[in-house]
Amino acid sequence: MYNLQSSVALLLLFGQNIAAQNSSWDHSLYTSSPGVFPSPNTTGIGWEDALQKAKQLVSQLTLEEKVGLLTGEPKGPCIGNIAPIRRVGFNGLCLQDGPLSIRQATYASVFPAGLAAASSWDRDLIRQRGEYLGAEFRDKGAHVALAPVAGPLGRSADAGRGWEGFSPDPYLTGIAMKETIEALQGAGVQACAKHWIGNEQETQRNPTVSPNNRTIEAVSANIDDRTMHELYMWPFADAVKAGVASMMCSYNRLNGSYACQNSKALNGLLKEELGFQGYVMSDWGATHAGVANIEAGMDQDMPGSITFFQAGPSYYGQNLTNAVNNGTVPMSRIDDAAHRIMTPYFFLGQDQDYPLIDPASGSVNILGVQPYLDTFQFGEANIDVRADHADLIRKLGSAGTILLKNTNNALPLNKPRNIAVFGNDAGDPENGLYSLSLTGNGDFEQGHLSVGGGSGTGRLTYLSTPLDALKARTKEDGTLLQWNLNNTLLTDPTPNAAFGAIFPYPDTCIVMLKTWASEGNDKVSLLPDWNGTAVVEAVAAYCNNTIVVTHTSGPIVMPWADHPNVTAILAAHFAGEQSGNSLVDVLYGDYNPSGKLPYTIAYNESDYAFARITNSTELRLTEDPNAWQADFEEGLLIDYRHYDYYNLSVQYEFGYGLSYTNFSMSDVKVHRLAAQNLTARPADAGTIPGGNPLLYDTLYEITVKVKNTGSIAGDAIPQLYLSQPVDALFGRTPVQVLRGFEKVLLGAGQTKTVTFALQRRDLSFWDAVQQQWIIPAGQFGVRAGFSSRDIQVTSGFTAL
Ligand SMILES: *[C@@H]1O[C@H](CO)[C@@H](O)[C@H](O)[C@H]1NC(C)=O
Ligand SMILES: *[C@@H]1O[C@H](CO)[C@@H](O)[C@H](O)[C@H]1NC(C)=O
Ligand SMILES: *[C@@H]1O[C@H](CO)[C@@H](O)[C@H](O)[C@H]1NC(C)=O
Ligand SMILES: *[C@@H]1O[C@H](CO)[C@@H](O)[C@H](O)[C@H]1NC(C)=O
Ligand SMILES: *[C@@H]1O[C@H](CO)[C@@H](O)[C@H](O)[C@H]1NC(C)=O
Ligand SMILES: *[C@@H]1O[C@H](CO)[C@@H](O)[C@H](O)[C@H]1NC(C)=O
Ligand SMILES: *[C@@H]1O[C@H](CO)[C@@H](O)[C@H](O)[C@H]1NC(C)=O
Ligand SMILES: *[C@@H]1O[C@H](CO)[C@@H](O)[C@H](O)[C@H]1NC(C)=O
Ligand SMILES: *[C@@H]1O[C@H](CO)[C@@H](O)[C@H](O)[C@H]1NC(C)=O
Ligand SMILES: *[C@@H]1O[C@H](CO)[C@@H](O)[C@H](O)[C@H]1NC(C)=O
Ligand SMILES: *[C@@H]1O[C@H](CO)[C@@H](O)[C@H](O)[C@H]1NC(C)=O
Ligand SMILES: *[C@@H]1O[C@H](CO)[C@@H](O)[C@H](O)[C@H]1NC(C)=O
Repeated sequence: MYNLQSSVALLLLFGQNIAAQNSSWDHSLYTSSPGVFPSPNTTGIGWEDALQKAKQLVSQLTLEEKVGLLTGEPKGPCIGNIAPIRRVGFNGLCLQDGPLSIRQATYASVFPAGLAAASSWDRDLIRQRGEYLGAEFRDKGAHVALAPVAGPLGRSADAGRGWEGFSPDPYLTGIAMKETIEALQGAGVQACAKHWIGNEQETQRNPTVSPNNRTIEAVSANIDDRTMHELYMWPFADAVKAGVASMMCSYNRLNGSYACQNSKALNGLLKEELGFQGYVMSDWGATHAGVANIEAGMDQDMPGSITFFQAGPSYYGQNLTNAVNNGTVPMSRIDDAAHRIMTPYFFLGQDQDYPLIDPASGSVNILGVQPYLDTFQFGEANIDVRADHADLIRKLGSAGTILLKNTNNALPLNKPRNIAVFGNDAGDPENGLYSLSLTGNGDFEQGHLSVGGGSGTGRLTYLSTPLDALKARTKEDGTLLQWNLNNTLLTDPTPNAAFGAIFPYPDTCIVMLKTWASEGNDKVSLLPDWNGTAVVEAVAAYCNNTIVVTHTSGPIVMPWADHPNVTAILAAHFAGEQSGNSLVDVLYGDYNPSGKLPYTIAYNESDYAFARITNSTELRLTEDPNAWQADFEEGLLIDYRHYDYYNLSVQYEFGYGLSYTNFSMSDVKVHRLAAQNLTARPADAGTIPGGNPLLYDTLYEITVKVKNTGSIAGDAIPQLYLSQPVDALFGRTPVQVLRGFEKVLLGAGQTKTVTFALQRRDLSFWDAVQQQWIIPAGQFGVRAGFSSRDIQVTSGFTAL
């Protein structure tokens, strides 16, 4: 693509590489996206037999029928629908939300959110969550689960959807994506990795209308090529490598061009570079053109009509048929899209004995739309698909609960005499068990938050609240349990108001805080909702054993963290339907906490300012259609990469979390598996899903010994961080990046050896000039420990 002979090109290329550097940020480089055409055909790598079946089926279809596979049926029974073509024995596709539950369905489980699952750092539990989710989608007759989420990755702490995905660290998210996708698809359900890509904020995610009725385009995520590869694409590469069936293109623009019609992102990065063999569907309403979308590589338009859930004008449908008939779009592009859509269906055996759609699991429930009863086939209504999944939900809820502070032996609780519970997060929700609304009808004042809002929510069948679970547990020990759940009363300035009716004074005070978040809205503050900060202060002023529990959508700031009367802090996020039981298991030591922070808790809101969402009053009133520009100037330096690079102290670092026992680490060893003639650049070994297969070769193994030095059994989570050699040509490089973790159960006194495998990609930089992953020359630092700042042992190697 580049001509290295030309000095003009060299200058341009130099700009490409140092673009990750803030000092040289040049917005003019981000005002257009290169065109990458034509859209590559699928070759069915890994799915060869299924591709033949797909081709066989598609070859029998008329143009209108093919286009039907590419266009949602807006009035079907599911959140997304592809109409059946009975003539060829195709029963249609049912697509359902979302990442933590089959969202609208009755009698389905609500699992811990992605962020809570990632906090467990437990591959096995994450995989089991995916298996059970898959089983529930399948049993409800859903062919496609609109899950999992790797975008937003978590650039901005205030992003409204951060909790749906896993972690701002791409390595941790990538592993969670792989485990979830393999598990969902293992259950026979197509996964849909979303949202590709740069979907890091909700604010202005869609076009709006200005005061003078002009169309103001969606925010443009402007991301340099290295950052794109090393951060935002990384977990999606893992998704493609795991064989994900579909990907959802996002609402935002990229370098000024809508993600669903950005040929560089879809044809170039996804289908050519990553070798993605499945299909790209639009986010709901993210299509803005038609011909430009299909040419750029978007295979399927959802929900299929310009107006949601109403039959009517479509950018695909008849428009696409016309565009083929008048010669604008080649039939081969339609064929390829149809092949891509039908191949995973055959690969997963969805043409055989697939359960019929439960009619009580679709949009009919929320919108009062009549499904096309004569078009789609239905099974039994309201079938209970939960099986024994609550056991896993309870365990994963505990495993994802992070013990941030524990002084004076506050925890685990040991038959306390007198507990008081404070805060509006503890008890029953005041209004129903379903929080769809994008404007916050789940943001009730009273009641426990176990899930966020929007398409990522779930319909609870029951909810174990912390108060209910504590009532049951305290009864066993004869403990007095009292509570005040009214945050207004709790923060009344009258001295001691919080304790009003509580008598005698509790020996243990548990304060429960929450922060709501939902698709469609970013957060305006990183303080807990409902004056939660003041609630902690009001209780801690009078109770010298104050245990704070947070159920949040992501990072909050904790100005009270070092308060001497705050003896313990537990961060639990959105833990799903067993939330109360999961918490009580940790509080009482039935589960020895092992969760670790999947992000950083800094001291002040201003500490997150380096990558907050793009927003201002001026932008809200703009008449410039192009005004919303999110320049990702921080490049690679998000979350811990930022705090490490600028050597800033933080409240609780990435990877941190305590246990009721203690661990030590020793004996780090570096084992080279790579041949001595290792080259910086991988040989060209073709493309498999995930890219060049050599990127996934294990080149090194690092081993460490981990010992439980305490007196009870517990799970350690040793972590491996890698410091890559710094080369100024590449701009700002993180001080260290996560490149390994394991969860190991150790009995008291027990020692185990843990092995971390380093693949070629783990060592490499993305070189924007060579358009290649390159292993840098120089010394790599190996740093292993129990958090990003609790490094216990170090070593190093030179790879080349
Ligand atoms: C956006 O622009 C940057 C700088 O020109 C370029 O490196 C990157 O590849 C572009 N990305 C897309 C998706 O167009
Ligand atoms: C896709 O395959 C069709 C049919 O074989 C062919 O005509 C078309 O050129 C191919 N497109 C690309 C981009 O290779
Ligand atoms: C914008 O359009 C709406 C309805 O289409 C109309 O009521 C309103 O007067 C218009 N405002 C301006 C400033 O033109
Ligand atoms: C085709 O798309 C245009 C928008 O570009 C829309 O106005 C029109 O109604 C669509 N036609 C059909 C038949 O859906
Ligand atoms: C072909 O049809 C498409 C979709 O209706 C339309 O956008 C395009 O302008 C048409 N092109 C020609 C040359 O008629
Ligand atoms: C909380 O207490 C205040 C003050 O007594 C009262 O006005 C408010 O209605 C109570 N809130 C709830 C949710 O009960
Ligand atoms: C929060 O609590 C403080 C301390 O009691 C009080 O001064 C303030 O008015 C409360 N704020 C809100 C929004 O209720
Ligand atoms: C801690 O709690 C005790 C009551 O047990 C109280 O007297 C003291 O003032 C509190 N300390 C702080 C710093 O609020
Ligand atoms: C906490 O306060 C209680 C009385 O309220 C007192 O008995 C106890 O010693 C105090 N604990 C500490 C660690 O100060
Ligand atoms: C965005 O800015 C507007 C205007 O200043 C403000 O009202 C709104 O709360 C902001 N939204 C977020 C999520 O910060
Ligand atoms: C980039 O540099 C400017 C000027 O030094 C500074 O104000 C800004 O905060 C920096 N941005 C980032 C993301 O580091
Ligand atoms: C490196 O050495 C191995 C074994 O000696 C050989 O098979 C391989 O082809 C060599 N690779 C390169 C890139 O020279």
